[in-house]
Amino acid sequence: MKALVLAGGKGTRLRPLTHTSAKQLVPVANKPVLYYGLEAIRNAGITRVGVIIGDTGHEVRDAVGDGSMFGLDVTYIPQEAPLGLAHCVLIARDFLEDDPFVMYLGDNFLIDGITDLVDAFDAADHDAQILLTKVAEPQFYGVAELGPDGQIVRLEEKPEHPRSDLAIVGVYTFSPAIHEAVQAIKPSARGELEITDAIKWLIDTGHRVHSHFVNGYWRDTGRLQDLLECNRIVLERIEPGVMGTVDRLSQTTGRVVIEQGAVVENSIVHGPVVIGPDTKIISSYVGPFTSIGPNCMLQDSEIENSIILDGSSIHGVSRIARSLIGRNVEVNRTSRLPNTHQLMVGDHSKIQVSS
Ligand code: G1P
Repeated sequence: MKALVLAGGKGTRLRPLTHTSAKQLVPVANKPVLYYGLEAIRNAGITRVGVIIGDTGHEVRDAVGDGSMFGLDVTYIPQEAPLGLAHCVLIARDFLEDDPFVMYLGDNFLIDGITDLVDAFDAADHDAQILLTKVAEPQFYGVAELGPDGQIVRLEEKPEHPRSDLAIVGVYTFSPAIHEAVQAIKPSARGELEITDAIKWLIDTGHRVHSHFVNGYWRDTGRLQDLLECNRIVLERIEPGVMGTVDRLSQTTGRVVIEQGAVVENSIVHGPVVIGPDTKIISSYVGPFTSIGPNCMLQDSEIENSIILDGSSIHGVSRIARSLIGRNVEVNRTSRLPNTHQLMVGDHSKIQVSS
């Protein structure tokens, strides 16, 4: 069995971060979300992995390399434009050969991994296996309607009026029959070759398509609230450890990871929290569910339930919550008059000020 990991796409919902970097590399508990997927694939006993890359391909290559750090053998497959998930299967034809494979969307996060799903597919004789889970807003996903015996009656991609609340999770397993399907379908209204249409084609032509419920936690991390929730779930399970230094005026409680070279002075850190290497927390409060990347600086500030990426600094600002702060960002308080908010933010940024 092989794996096909999709790490292209535009990541429009996480702009402006994704203007410059891949959505699959946004960190959850200071680790790129893509790494969790690659580890899940390795843990399922798969080693040969094709990674589809797009405009941000160089960054994905830098982060994943030849895959050996995960015990994987990675082949990169460039996609000239985001032409759809089924298009990814089309261009991976040579890599996949006639092997069965698991297709994994690189921004999907499954806390319990994919071993059960891969084992179930191995043991059965299906042409496709899809994963389903109940969601609150099915209109943002592929949606399945099941019949009384659990058989798939209908599949629709992001329907305006969903007929069920069962979303298709971004992890699929296929037999080589999928190659015929991706050749047979036409682009959707949004101009993409949809994998949902290819699976529909398999059903319509009498192939065996099975659905399987995800029991554990799953999220597509393409939206801020989902990313923050994944961060919370991972931090809740993180192994605490202090490799950096915490002075005697500081107080840490709960699950707290303070990486090598990080310094906490005169501050309160309420876990679960992870503080990246060489980051400084001075006279500040870091509240639950916060991941602060490497080389950051937090001074006279308060933050909780947030993700901060490498090299950013926050001075004199309280209290930041439910926020995603990119790389090398500066957020400062000023006492200069007039008392205004001065902003220089990238395209498609979202700012909420409370006063
Ligand atoms: C894709 C699929 C959709 C699926 C979702 C899961 O959507 O097209 O059917 O439910 O992934 O993450 P995308 O997020 O790429 O728009």
